[in-house]
Amino acid sequence: MSISTEEFNLLRTFILEHSEIEVKPEKTYLIESRLSRMMVELGASNFTEFYHNAKSDTSGKLRERIIDAMTTNETFWFRDTKPWELMKQTILPDLIDQKKKLPPGIKIRIWSAACSTGQEPYSIAMVLSEMLESGKFPGVKLNDFEIIATDISPSVLFLANSGRYNQLAMSRGLPESYKSKYFDQQGKIWVIKPEIKSCITFKKFNLQDHPSALGRFNFVLCRNVAIYFTDVFKRELFRRIHGVIEPPGFFLLGSSESLVGYSTDFNMVEAQGAIFYKKK
Ligand SMILES: C[S@@+](CC[C@H](N)C(=O)[O-])C[C@H]1O[C@@H](n2cnc3c(N)ncnc32)[C@H](O)[C@@H]1O
Repeated sequence: MSISTEEFNLLRTFILEHSEIEVKPEKTYLIESRLSRMMVELGASNFTEFYHNAKSDTSGKLRERIIDAMTTNETFWFRDTKPWELMKQTILPDLIDQKKKLPPGIKIRIWSAACSTGQEPYSIAMVLSEMLESGKFPGVKLNDFEIIATDISPSVLFLANSGRYNQLAMSRGLPESYKSKYFDQQGKIWVIKPEIKSCITFKKFNLQDHPSALGRFNFVLCRNVAIYFTDVFKRELFRRIHGVIEPPGFFLLGSSESLVGYSTDFNMVEAQGAIFYKKK
């Protein structure tokens, strides 16, 4: 079903208002391809009618389905490799040291701010578990860490929280040793072990909302999501993230992303061939 310029503008504004996701005119096909089937299923005869249905749906269910469909959920284990060396050698050892100085019962808090189907938070928990088992960090255990993993999309959160992955997902970036150590195979599905899952809480959270509702964090990962937002919102988002980081805290963006032009609140640090940010 093709979309007119007016219809594109109506839906583009609707999506922006409810998610900050900016659909540029050259990506008109994304609205057509991702929303056509939903429109037909709901009996709307064109995108104008579909838009009015969404606007007047007081339950918010149609809005949620539209935003869910408009998200791009690409992710895989240990995405981009170098930041994971950086985490293993620099960020996580520092957080383990910070933990040793905290009163008992106070956890180190990590936020995976757009976690998609969960590969990012599970990768962090597996690395942490492996480091803590090595015997180099006596007295600190995996449950001294709390990972809050959030996303706007209920469908990816459902998969993430199930901790169940098919062969294709498992083949994307996961070393064989981690697969055998941290997953149980059930037929053609691999299920993350409960001890890895136990330090992660998955929550629906729209980055439009203020993250102070989630508490304060020692380390925030906001990778490969700000690329979908307007420049104005990127500045606001980074300002808010700065506000919820507990000093001396860490902030990590995706490998193709940078704070240049968006925030001067952080110091940029390079280590292990990757870049991270430290709260000033
Ligand atoms: C490309 S994935 C990135 C996943 C992971 N961080 C990574 O780097 O592999 C982007 C994720 O951002 C989520 N997202 C988009 N807009 C969002 C918003 N306003 N609030 C929260 N999550 C959002 C999408 O649902 C999607 O799962």
